[in-house]
Amino acid sequence: MTQRLYPAAMCLLAAALAVRVVNARTEGRAAPISSVVTQAAAQAGAPAQAAEYVGSDTCTTCHSDKEQSLKGTPHSQAANPRTPAATHGCESCHGPGKAHVDDDAKGHINKFGQMKPAAISETCLSCHNRGVHAGWENSKHAQRDLTCTTCHSVHSPKSAARQLVKPTETALCQTCHRLQVTKTERAVAHMPVREGKLSCSSCHNPHGSITNVKALKTGNSVAELCETCHAEMRGPTLFEHAPVRENCATCHDPHGSSNDRMLVVRMPMLCQRCHVASSHPSSVYDNNAITVKKSNRMFGRSCMNCHQMIHGSNHPSGQFFMR
Ligand code: HEC
Ligand code: HEC
Ligand code: HEC
Ligand code: HEC
Ligand code: HEC
Ligand code: HEC
Ligand code: HEC
Ligand code: HEC
Ligand code: HEC
Ligand code: HEC
Repeated sequence: MTQRLYPAAMCLLAAALAVRVVNARTEGRAAPISSVVTQAAAQAGAPAQAAEYVGSDTCTTCHSDKEQSLKGTPHSQAANPRTPAATHGCESCHGPGKAHVDDDAKGHINKFGQMKPAAISETCLSCHNRGVHAGWENSKHAQRDLTCTTCHSVHSPKSAARQLVKPTETALCQTCHRLQVTKTERAVAHMPVREGKLSCSSCHNPHGSITNVKALKTGNSVAELCETCHAEMRGPTLFEHAPVRENCATCHDPHGSSNDRMLVVRMPMLCQRCHVASSHPSSVYDNNAITVKKSNRMFGRSCMNCHQMIHGSNHPSGQFFMR
C-alpha cells in the first residue's frame, strides 16, 4: 500500500503535528461520545491507556484517500454540530489515535473489520441512539449479531442514499430475506413495491421497533400499520369482523401472493378455514351443485358476491357484512 512507502520524515512530521493538534483539541472538549468510543476500542482489544486525540489533519497525512471518501457525505458536514466533522473527525469513529500514530505496528485503532458486532453498534449509537434507532438493542437484527456495518458503509457506500452496502434497499434485504423479496415479484404484489414506490422500509424499520411486532415501523399492531395508508379500513365499525381487527395478515400476505388481492389462500377456501360448519353452509353446496348448477359461491367473487363488507359494516342491518 502507498502509505507504507511514505518516508520516515513524514511520520516525524505527523508526530509533531499530533502534539500540536492534541493541545488544540483537548481544550474543554470532553464530549460524552469520546468515552463510549473509548469503551468500544477497549472491547476491540486495544489496551487501556490514556486516550489522546490527534485530530483528522494528522490522520489524513497518511490516509488522504479516507478523507476523500467522506467528502459530501453527511458525516463531513461540519455545519451540523452533531457530525464527526464538527467533533473528533476520524477519531469520532476510530477512537483516539495518538497511540496508533506512535505505534510502529499501527495497531491501537478501531479497525471495524476486526471488531465485535456489538462494539461496532456501540460506536455508531454514540450518535445514532435516538428516533428511529431507539429500538435497536431489542431488535431481532441486533440479537442475531447484525451490526451497522452489515448494511452501511461509511467510506464506500453503493447506494445513492443512506450509505447502504448494496445499490438498493431491496437488494440489501434480499441477501438474507429472499422469500419476502420474491413474494413482491409475484402476480399480485403490493403493486407499488415492484414499481419502487413502496419499499421494505415503508412498513419495516430495519433498526427495530419499540411499539410493534416484526419491526413494523408504525402503530401497535399489524392492523394499525396497514391503516396508516388504508384509512378506510380503520375501525371501529358497527359490526366488526373479528379477524380483521385482529390481524390483516390472517387473510392478506403484505408482501404479495399468487391470489387476487394478495390473499393468503384462494376464495372460498380463505373463509372456510374458519367458517366450516355454520348453519348457512359455508361449503359451496354439494356434489353436482358445484359442477352442474354452478354454485353462486364459486363464481365471480365467491363468498364476496354477497358478503361484500368483509372488513366490517356500519349499516344498521350489516351484521352479515352484506351491506
Ligand atoms: C504516520 C502515518 C499514519 C498516521 C498519521 C495514521 N495512520 Fe492509520 N495507519 C497507518 C498505517 C501504515 C496503517 C497500516 C496500513 C495497512 O495495513 O493497510 C494504518 C492503519 C490504520 C487503520 C486500519 C486499516 C486496516 O486496514 O485495518 C485505521 C482504521 C487507521 N489507520 C486509522 C487512522 C486514524 C483514524 C488516524 C488518525 C487518528 C490514523 N490512522 C493516523 C499509518 C498512519
Ligand atoms: C462515521 C464513522 C467514521 C468516520 C468519521 C471515519 N471512519 Fe474510517 N471507517 C469507518 C467504518 C465503519 C469503516 C469500515 C469500512 C466502511 O464501512 O466503509 C472504516 C474503515 C476505515 C479504514 C480501514 C480501511 C478499510 O477500508 O477497511 C481506514 C484506514 C479508515 N477508516 C480511516 C479513516 C480516516 C483517516 C478517517 C478520517 C478522514 C475516517 N476513517 C473517518 C467509520 C468511520
Ligand atoms: C459523532 C457522531 C456520529 C457518529 C459516531 C456516527 N454518525 Fe452517522 N451521522 C451523524 C450525523 C450528525 C448524521 C447526519 C444526519 C443526522 O443528523 O442524523 C449522520 C448520518 C448517517 C447516515 C445517513 C446517511 C445519509 O445519506 O442519509 C448513516 C447511514 C450513518 N450516519 C451511519 C453511521 C454509522 C454506520 C456509524 C458508525 C460506523 C456512524 N454513522 C457514526 C453522526 C454520527
Ligand atoms: C438490516 C440493515 C440495516 C442495519 C443492520 C442498520 N441499518 Fe441503518 N438503515 C438501513 C436502511 C435500509 C435505511 C434506509 C431506511 C429509510 O430510508 O427509511 C437505514 C437508514 C439509516 C440512517 C438514516 C436514518 C434517517 O432516517 O435519516 C441512519 C443514520 C442509520 N441507518 C444508521 C444505522 C446505525 C447507527 C445502525 C447500527 C446501530 C444501523 N443503521 C443498522 C438498514 C440498516
Ligand atoms: C445479513 C442478513 C440480514 C439482512 C441484510 C437483513 N436481515 Fe432482516 N433479519 C435477519 C435475521 C437473521 C433475522 C432474524 C430471523 C429470525 O430470528 O427468525 C431478521 C429478521 C427480520 C425481520 C423480523 C423481525 C422480527 O422482529 O421478527 C424483519 C421484518 C426484517 N428482518 C426485515 C429486514 C429488512 C427490511 C431488511 C433490509 C433493509 C433486512 N431485514 C436485512 C437478517 C438480515
Ligand atoms: C405493506 C407493508 C410491508 C412491506 C412493504 C413489507 N413488509 Fe415485511 N412484513 C409486513 C408485516 C405486516 C409482517 C408481519 C406478518 C405477520 O404477522 O404474519 C411482515 C413480516 C416480515 C418478516 C418476518 C417474517 C416472519 O415470518 O417472521 C420479514 C423477514 C419481512 N417482513 C421482510 C420484508 C422485506 C425484505 C420486505 C421488502 C421486500 C418487506 N418485508 C416489505 C409488512 C410489510
Ligand atoms: C405505505 C403505505 C401502505 C401501507 C403501510 C400498506 N399499504 Fe396496502 N396498498 C398501498 C397502495 C399504495 C396500494 C395500491 C392501491 C391501488 O392500487 O389503488 C395498496 C394496495 C393494497 C391491496 C390491494 C391489492 C390489489 O391487488 O388490489 C391490499 C389487499 C393491501 N394493500 C393490503 C395491505 C395490508 C394488509 C397492509 C398491512 C400489512 C397494507 N396494505 C399496508 C399502500 C400501503
Ligand atoms: C377475513 C379475511 C380478511 C381480513 C382479516 C382482511 N381482509 Fe382485506 N380483503 C379480504 C378479501 C376477501 C378481499 C377481496 C375483496 C373483494 O374481492 O372485493 C379484501 C380486499 C382488501 C383490499 C382491496 C381493496 C378492496 O376494498 O377490495 C384492501 C386494501 C384490504 N383488503 C385491506 C385490508 C386491511 C388493511 C386489513 C386489516 C385491517 C384487511 N384487509 C383484513 C379479506 C380480508
Ligand atoms: C381467521 C378466521 C376467519 C376467517 C378467515 C373468516 N372469518 Fe368470518 N368470522 C370469524 C369470526 C371469529 C366471526 C365472529 C363469529 C361470531 O361472532 O359468532 C366471523 C363472522 C363472520 C360473519 C358474520 C356472522 C355472524 O354470525 O355474525 C360473516 C358473514 C363472515 N364471518 C363471513 C366471512 C367470509 C365471507 C370470509 C371470507 C372472506 C370470512 N368470514 C373469513 C372468523 C373468520
Ligand atoms: C348468495 C349469497 C351468499 C353467498 C354467495 C354466501 N353467503 Fe353467507 N350468507 C348469506 C346470507 C343471506 C346470510 C344471512 C343468514 C342466512 O341466511 O343464513 C349469510 C350468512 C353467513 C354467515 C353467518 C350466519 C351463519 O349461519 O353462520 C356466515 C359465516 C357466512 N354466511 C359465510 C359464508 C361463506 C364462507 C361463504 C362462501 C363460501 C358465503 N357465506 C357465501 C348469503 C350468502
